[in-house]
Amino acid sequence: MNNFSFHSPTRIVFGKGALDQMKKYIGPLGKKVLLVYGKGSIKKNGVYDKICSQLSNHEIWELSDVMPNPRVDKVKEGADLCREHGIDVIVAAGGGSVFDCSKAIAAACFYDGDPWDLVVGKAKVSQALPIACVVTMSATGSEMNDTAVISNWDLHQKIGLHDDHICPTVSFLDPENLFTVPFSQMAAGIADILSHLFEQYFTDVEDAYVQDGLAVGCMKACIHYGPIVLKDPSNYEACSNLMWAAPMALNGLLKTGYSMGWSCHPMEHVLSAYYDVTHGVGLAILTPRWMRYILDESTISRFKKYGVEVWGIDANLDDFEIARKAIQKTEEFLFETLQLPRSLSQLGILEESLPEMAKSCVETKGGSVQGYKTLYEKDVLAIYKACL
Ligand code: NZQ
Ligand code: ZN
Repeated sequence: MNNFSFHSPTRIVFGKGALDQMKKYIGPLGKKVLLVYGKGSIKKNGVYDKICSQLSNHEIWELSDVMPNPRVDKVKEGADLCREHGIDVIVAAGGGSVFDCSKAIAAACFYDGDPWDLVVGKAKVSQALPIACVVTMSATGSEMNDTAVISNWDLHQKIGLHDDHICPTVSFLDPENLFTVPFSQMAAGIADILSHLFEQYFTDVEDAYVQDGLAVGCMKACIHYGPIVLKDPSNYEACSNLMWAAPMALNGLLKTGYSMGWSCHPMEHVLSAYYDVTHGVGLAILTPRWMRYILDESTISRFKKYGVEVWGIDANLDDFEIARKAIQKTEEFLFETLQLPRSLSQLGILEESLPEMAKSCVETKGGSVQGYKTLYEKDVLAIYKACL
């Protein structure tokens, strides 16, 4: 196992009625609140009213209409609001897009230049406002990590800002708040959680038994509870397990001791940056094609382990047969059980745009995607083409 340093400063308040504890945890963070949310689902499902009643002793300003794949313009708007009103704390209610936008705002309000400088690393985050997340959609784990993924539509770039300062101070996870998530959004969220697990589990490090067990446990939770929650959206047991699997997959715990960079995420971020696709949908389309592309003698032992431990495939079969069956099972889960789109063409992505996107993908990563297997421009293009 590789050396590591692990730090997770976010308090998680989990369970039925979790929002009832907002006053207790947000009170000490300051009086002036910027409440950030999306297009309005929190007004329909009662979350907005619960937040306002908990924060009745605070002064509240609002930033609404944060779109999926949040853009740097919205970050700028939020940072201006924070500076203008002397905001003390940001309360973000929604999913990864609202959280990421809020995290970037929290940092950008202490930076006088263009917030994009922080995203691309041209300027360093010096400090950030405290952030409290109210989770209404489980996928990214942003509620418990140091990352904000921001898009710049003019440049067709979508990049992750990583910094300890932007870890949320506290996050409220009430599984009942997932009951109203639409089928397609829930399915995309599950595909995203699985992808986070795959990105870390597929590694050359063979002796990280603890991390492997955590990853396999979270994968099994997604595979078991995915179909249950899609059939019965208000199944508390399913919602609570998925709600905890999301931050477990991406709060930094799993990457401890593993060494590899990521593969499908860099490829997906380019699809979103050019076509504004739903993150989990792009990942679902890419994942089985990436798996097939990298399967060879050097990766077979990991695929065998995945097939046997996650899908229960007979360990006595030929190794490549196990691997191919495991990829087939993954594909069936994503496209049949979760009913996600299975091709880039279905998303309106044109074949002629693939070379430019493949080039942009590797350029953003410094020349190649350093994942489980290094991918060069020709490899990324081949995977995109296999997804058409
Ligand atoms: O805008 P509203 O009306 O709130 O509707 C939202 C939005 O349309 C809806 N929704 C959320 N909770 C709901 C609900 N509808 C009904 N009932 C509820 N309870 O669902 C949509 C949510 O969209 P979004 O926040 O975009 O989803 P997600 O959580 O999948 O976030 C995706 C974004 O996070 C980034 C992605 O790239 C993408 O930009 N990521 C962030 C990461 C991180 N910070 O660590 C890592 C990820 O890999 C990912 O890149
Ligand atoms: Zn993701």
